[in-house]
Amino acid sequence: MPLETTRLHLHREMTVGPVDPRVFGGFLEHMGRAVYEGVYHPESRHADAHGCRSDVLGALDRLQMTAMRYPGGNFASGYHWIDGVGPKAKRPKVRELAWQSLEPNQFGTDEYIRLCRAMPWTPMLTVNLGTGTPEEARDWVEYCNAPAGTRFSDLRAAHGSPEPHGVKLWCLGNEMDGPWQLGHVPADQYAIRAQQAAKMMKDVDKSIELVACGSCGIGMDSYMKWDRAVLEYLGDAADFISLHRYVGNPKNETLDYLAVGAGIDRQIEEMDAACRFVQAQRKSKKRAYLCFDEWNVWYKDQQMDGAGKFAPHLVEEVYNLEDALVVAGFLHSFVRHADAVKIANLAQIVNVIAPVLTRGDEMLVQSIFYPFEMMSKRRNGVSLRAAVRGPAYESKSHGTTPYVEASAILDGARLHVFLTNRHLTESAEVAVEGAGLSIRGLESAEVLTGGDAKAANSYDAPETVVARTFSNVSVAGGGAKAVLPPLAFAAITFELA
Ligand code: AHR
Repeated sequence: MPLETTRLHLHREMTVGPVDPRVFGGFLEHMGRAVYEGVYHPESRHADAHGCRSDVLGALDRLQMTAMRYPGGNFASGYHWIDGVGPKAKRPKVRELAWQSLEPNQFGTDEYIRLCRAMPWTPMLTVNLGTGTPEEARDWVEYCNAPAGTRFSDLRAAHGSPEPHGVKLWCLGNEMDGPWQLGHVPADQYAIRAQQAAKMMKDVDKSIELVACGSCGIGMDSYMKWDRAVLEYLGDAADFISLHRYVGNPKNETLDYLAVGAGIDRQIEEMDAACRFVQAQRKSKKRAYLCFDEWNVWYKDQQMDGAGKFAPHLVEEVYNLEDALVVAGFLHSFVRHADAVKIANLAQIVNVIAPVLTRGDEMLVQSIFYPFEMMSKRRNGVSLRAAVRGPAYESKSHGTTPYVEASAILDGARLHVFLTNRHLTESAEVAVEGAGLSIRGLESAEVLTGGDAKAANSYDAPETVVARTFSNVSVAGGGAKAVLPPLAFAAITFELA
């Protein structure tokens, strides 16, 4: 029996907030083959004049990513930025402990900034609050942002950049509540380090924005306790607090896995509640916003030990259709919480848990690339509250879950609607009904599907799961109808009257 129609009700005045473009950010870590053999590969036949891979950058360009977090992740907690600047021949080869790899420092701050300018990406640097000191963090801000004329800004100028790099976004460490983190400490000690770093960093450049390190996962004992303690101690110095989430389907329960968007909603709402609680308690006018600076699907490839090698193959996850629908679920959730989530970074961008893989000079675009691309190009505007009424199922982990997941963005005279059909076998008819909104026509529509939840792109069959034109959309009487195939994600742009 076909599914009953789902009604998506949108009201022009029921806005959540403007969608911050920085929600469509990425994350580039010195891990595995993300930097070396990923974005930077002077030996490749695709290398540009700066040693960067033009094929990889060309694919990433389609994602129109914004904030690009660098250089880690766990890597950041053992990284000394000074090792990665200056003449390449003089940079030290170091034993890297987070991923047990060999780090030759041939790609560092200046190479990263040049890449950010070229893409263009918004630079976002993570300082080392593990084995590093607050003063080292302060010095990095001077290197990047101070006008020439002082010790570290003159060093930058001597390295070929007389003008400041102007890095506005800085993360105060990474996953410092995790015992695996180099320099891990309890919340009260992290808070002291972070406050000292924040003060000195803002003393050098008061225009920068700082992301305090939040607890690294909902399963941690420190979840929320850490966040509250850190927010209370840092006070107004914290512009954002970080959230991380990696999800997977290890038990092969696809319907439960596809319901994870509700879990993301919950994590965001809990962290926002912590921010609002501390703000109220402190009687402060300043609200800390959320920076979801690591998120993705990650559960299949757990190879994390580089065995002392340079550019080892680490966590090179292969993604399928259900993973792509879950990635869409994260993005739906960020749009639905546009009032609270201001930055988010897909972890990561190439080879390491990434939408793009390389093999020698070959490149493969994975399934998760497409929902990001489909939403990123429709990201401008104000998020509308998406009221979904329709058939639902019981998910073991997330309770009653509508088969259709939705989010929407109002962009002047255009309306972007994003729909996922989580049903394994049935098509879903969705009626889009607007109040104060009259749909006049269809501008564009794409759909991502692939027949089977486990369908994946491969070097032999690279177009198994790709976005295609979606023709099953009709407009009538100021509303619209779309019929999504089973296991599908659609991005539709309507013209409004
Ligand atoms: O993205 C891979 C790793 O996952 C990051 O380095 C770390 O922050 C997280 O645990």
